Order: sequence, then structure tokens, then C-alpha cells
Amino acid sequence: MNTTLRKDIDWVGYVDWTVRDFHGYQTQRGVTYNAYLVRDQATALIDTVKAPFADQLLANIEALTELAAVRYVICNHAELDHAGGLPGVMKALPNAKLVCDQKCQATLSKHHDVSGWQIQIVASGDTLSLGKRTLRFIETPMVHWPESMFTYVPEEQLLFSMDFFGQHYATSQRFDDEVPLGTMMEEAKTYYANIMMPYGERVAATLEQVAQLDLEMIAPSHGVIWRSHAPAILEAHRNWATCRPQPKVLVIYDTMWESTAQMARAIHEGASLPGVAAELIHIRSSSLTRIATEVLDAAAVAFGSSTLNRNMMPMAAAVLTYLQGLRPINKAGLAFGSYGWGKGGPEAVQECLAALKWELLREPIKAQYRPTPEVLEECRQAGRRLAERAKEMAPRRDASGN
Ligand code: FEO
Repeated sequence: MNTTLRKDIDWVGYVDWTVRDFHGYQTQRGVTYNAYLVRDQATALIDTVKAPFADQLLANIEALTELAAVRYVICNHAELDHAGGLPGVMKALPNAKLVCDQKCQATLSKHHDVSGWQIQIVASGDTLSLGKRTLRFIETPMVHWPESMFTYVPEEQLLFSMDFFGQHYATSQRFDDEVPLGTMMEEAKTYYANIMMPYGERVAATLEQVAQLDLEMIAPSHGVIWRSHAPAILEAHRNWATCRPQPKVLVIYDTMWESTAQMARAIHEGASLPGVAAELIHIRSSSLTRIATEVLDAAAVAFGSSTLNRNMMPMAAAVLTYLQGLRPINKAGLAFGSYGWGKGGPEAVQECLAALKWELLREPIKAQYRPTPEVLEECRQAGRRLAERAKEMAPRRDASGN
């Protein structure tokens, strides 16, 4: 495996091929925990790995240099997938000082016993000279946690971007020109939707900071390193930061005895206009991870549920709860669903869509027990309206497709 980013700058992380669940995020292609070693007059380790893999990280370092040569451990982010291995790593590196920002120290001290560690606190703009190279720190609050920080190496035009620009993608290749770009972008989009989407405003501000840097390579803490396609991932993030709508309608539903499914199919039929991508998603045949990813750039979403115990179906509630946390913006919405002797499903969906602050095109479409031909026609018409609204909302593309 080629792990060399630049002369004396190497990836020393861990590839977790088998993990399929990352605190609820379905990781269909596994995960990597990226750590990097910058060897210079003083050697610095950039980030660590999840606790169970700390020994492998240390073995990777030892393959390149003595553990005693590491003088600094930079902690860009205190979340345990990167800082869980810190106690073992700090114990094994006799001459290492931890470098992090103030908020990171506070967070780390809640997770670990840091009393024996030498800690150097840094803030945005501070630099640390390693000899030929300099580390410059840039605090990036809420991308992904309050204490998140980038480390930039100006001499190499190299940015260690922690979670930002990451993907959950286990591969034996480390660079973007060694893997299929479509797969990498798909995983980057999934990662953004499920991790970064709530922080769009902070993401936009951070992208402005990144634009000020001379940049040839972006090395995130997850997935593959951007060295040939950095402009593409920067452009994608500019679009994702505002959930820039595409001419796309999702019809997401759960159903008890197929009535809501019939309504969903009728809405989907109406929404299938030329120039619009209409997708039909049965919640229990999909996943929270997939649905959030599809919602990110959809202009319009029809969401349906049958009524169960005067409420929506439980998996429909799970999806809407998840979306309320992720806060997707710039959507038109429509609620629909069926009921029997007790009402509540479609009304509960409508309430959730309103809480998301989506533009609701009308009151919920409802069917008692079975949708009549009239109700199904109402669904088709609402689907058409959603698709037309999606086309209006999606910005026109220029000749390059942007
Ligand atoms: Fe990969 Fe926010 O941790």
C-alpha cells in the first residue's frame, strides 16, 4: 500500500474493513481512521485512531521511526474515533507533547485521565515549527464538534482536515486517483449528509477559510486523500452547505396494509415528469443513512405514513426524528397517508415537516382504509405539483453541468 503523501509525510492509520455501523451510520464500505506522521527535525503525529487500533498505529509509526522521535501529537478532534487511542499512544511515546485547542483539552479531560500529559494549547493562526515544515492551526468549530481544528502545512500546501472532506470508505488505496471517483464522491456525499448537514452555515464559513489557503492536497481523518480532485470536493461541499436543490422528488413512505403504498405510487407517478428524478423509497426497505443522503439535494419530498395507534408508523417517526436532527433546508414538502377508525398518521407527518420549516404545498392527503380513485388522482396531481416546484427550485445548470 502506498502511504506516502510527501517525502517524510506518511499515513499511519487503520483500515477497518468489517465495521458496518458507526454510531448508527450504516457504513456499507467500512471505515478508515487516518493518522499521519510528519518526520522532520521534530516529528509530529497528526491525530490517532479508535482505541482498539492504537497498537497498530504505533506499529505503523515504528516501521518509519523510533517512538521516542515523536515530539508532538496533534489532536484535531476529540471524538473517540480519532482520540480514543490517545491514552495508549501518549503512554507509548515518551517524548511527546499533546497539541490541541482549549476546547479540545476540556473535552479530552472529560474522556481520559490527562493528568500525566504535557499539553500545549494552540489557537487559530498559531504555528509550530518542526524544522523544514511548519504546522499552522485553524480552529473550525462545529465542523464537526466545538473543538474541531485543521492543521495546515504551508510548505507542502497540505491540509489535514480532520472529519471535513471525509468518507467512510475502506480501501487499500490512499489517494483519490487510485479509486473510482464516483464511489468516492458517493461516500463523501453520504458522509456529509449524515455527519455535517446540521452545520451548513459553519461549513460555508469554513470553506471560505479553506479558499484562502494554497492547497494541493487535503488529507481527512476518514477515507481517501484528495490530491487530484480537491477542486471537485470543494465545489461539492459548496453545494451541500446549502442543500442546493436538484430537480429531484423523493416519495418516502411506510405502509401497513398497502393503502399508503398505493398513494405513494400515485404521487410518484405524478412526479415523474421530464427533467425530474423521482425516487420511491419504502422506509423499511432502505436505511436512515441512505434516506438522509437522498434528502440532502432533493428539492421536494413527499412523506407518507399509515396510522398506527393514532400516530405515524414507528420507522416513519424514526426517519423524521433523524431528519429533524440533521436539519435539511431548501425543500418543498407534502404529507400523506391512510387511517382507519382512528386518525393521526398523516397529521403527525405534517407536523414534523412543518417543524423542519419546509414549504408545505397543501394540507395532508388522507385516505380512510383504502384510497378511492379520487384520492389516487389527488395524489397524482400533488405529485405533479411537487415536481413542478422542484424544477422551479433547482437552479439552472450552466453548460458545464454546474
Ligand atoms: Fe470522525 Fe467527528 O469524528
